[in-house]
Amino acid sequence: MLDKTKKDWWKSAVVYQIYPRSFQDTTGSGVGDLNGIIRRLDYLAELGIDLIWLSPVFASPQVDNGYDISDYRDIDPLFGTLEDMRTLIREGKKRGIGIMMDLVLNHSSDQHPWFLKAKADKESPYHDYYVWRDGTPDRYPNGMQSVFGGPAWEWVPELGQYYFHQFAPQQPDLNWENPALRREIYDMILWWMEQGVEGFRLDVIDQIAKEPDREITGNGPRLHEFLRELSRETFQKGCLVTVGEAWGANLERAKLYSAPDGSELSMVFQFEQMMLDQKPGGEKWDLCPLPFVKFKESFARWQEGLHGCGWNSLFLNNHDLPRVVSRWGNDGEYRVQSAKLLGTMLHGMQGTPYIYQGEELGMTNVRLPIDQYRDVEILNFYKRCQEEGRPEEETMRSIYAKGRDNARTPMQWTAGENAGFTEGTPWIPVNPNHTTINAEAALADPDSVFHYYQKLLKLRKELPVFAHGDFTLLEPDHPKLFVYRRAYEGKQLLVVCNFSDEETVWEPKAEWKNARTLIANYPSHAGALRPWEAMMLYLE
Ligand code: GLC
Repeated sequence: MLDKTKKDWWKSAVVYQIYPRSFQDTTGSGVGDLNGIIRRLDYLAELGIDLIWLSPVFASPQVDNGYDISDYRDIDPLFGTLEDMRTLIREGKKRGIGIMMDLVLNHSSDQHPWFLKAKADKESPYHDYYVWRDGTPDRYPNGMQSVFGGPAWEWVPELGQYYFHQFAPQQPDLNWENPALRREIYDMILWWMEQGVEGFRLDVIDQIAKEPDREITGNGPRLHEFLRELSRETFQKGCLVTVGEAWGANLERAKLYSAPDGSELSMVFQFEQMMLDQKPGGEKWDLCPLPFVKFKESFARWQEGLHGCGWNSLFLNNHDLPRVVSRWGNDGEYRVQSAKLLGTMLHGMQGTPYIYQGEELGMTNVRLPIDQYRDVEILNFYKRCQEEGRPEEETMRSIYAKGRDNARTPMQWTAGENAGFTEGTPWIPVNPNHTTINAEAALADPDSVFHYYQKLLKLRKELPVFAHGDFTLLEPDHPKLFVYRRAYEGKQLLVVCNFSDEETVWEPKAEWKNARTLIANYPSHAGALRPWEAMMLYLE
């Protein structure tokens, strides 16, 4: 177990993200719940994780699956009660697993009492908790669009005003310029700290300092001032881990977010590498192949750029992204090998690794008929494509490749009915491949992706080179190989990954001949690298 009283303890931690509605149902409702997580804590302890990032379980109308919060101090009955939450925190601690709550501070639900009061009365002190502009129904304040499609302004006839929403209309943006709002947020965070949570993930935190009149959403002028105040008033009073989701962060900004003096957050969660297979200037639905050399260059730039002066999150999956084994691996013939390779590539780097539920099983994307998708973003996109007369097949291809529901189908526990996720009807269909890809089978197979991840996590705890070593990219222009070296206090780690379906000839330099193989996804190394072969070598 990690000593979580030590400064920067989270640099050696591994985080596991749970999307509660799809993890484990214990009531037959078809939606996962807190008791389901408690039931699976031993499984997570066996994997070797230190923290759970719990996607939102707060009271919510669930327009965006909990990313629309109507009470920050209560649990949605869908998931259980505050008492269940306290039990989860306690049971987690017993196993060395801390809970990170997912705080959505950029916006609330339109059903939050603050918004209800704000909307009922212009004179209410809550009115200014949100972002309003006077106007007429026929003319939006400006042309800003919301992330989920459609205008970012919603008309309220009773007030003769528009309110601003960067996401769905049911997710009105909070006005961080208002000091009373900020104080309410700090008090709420301090209250969660008293409940024993060990950290927070901050949803779209780069968007809190918006200035709609100048069409600024991300990286507003007051962003880092707000973050420093937030940190001073809350996180710095405990020994917490904090991570900021920041789609718009570049390296320079990342150094501010994760400054070693702890003035803002512990680490940044940025998406540069995850957006490279998107046409420049296009949107996420446009498909384009991964520019592999650029991908490596981007990782290397972040590894080198933050070394000694910041801290990054390492991830390839989350609840907003397609499953990486389908995206950049091979989810057919080489599913197991490529899932292990992707883990090897990532877990050898500097930063705090995140595992998204089911990644440790090599879970894949899913293809559903359109009426079985649930995500507001997918459904809005589909509607827009229909209106624009885009061919159905093309639309579905984008949804299959990039839709967020790929990551949101239920966790695959067993080969049985509904994958052991629920005894009721799951809120979204289970991936039919659960008959072969499931936790029960993985636990019984010593060569499974699960056991490989377990070993990766152990290695990180044993060898300081993982947390502290510097980084050098080797073979930067090779079109198939991702090779890098880490070095720390005379010890060296070499990570070699063949990102392809073909055998690839590559020989390490003579000095590596005597290295110890820490982990590998094929039995033993002989000549050329086999399809999706990956290994870590260690020189003392
Ligand atoms: C973040 C969340 C995403 C959510 C959005 C709005 O990007 O990860 O799931 O829809 O913020 O809260």
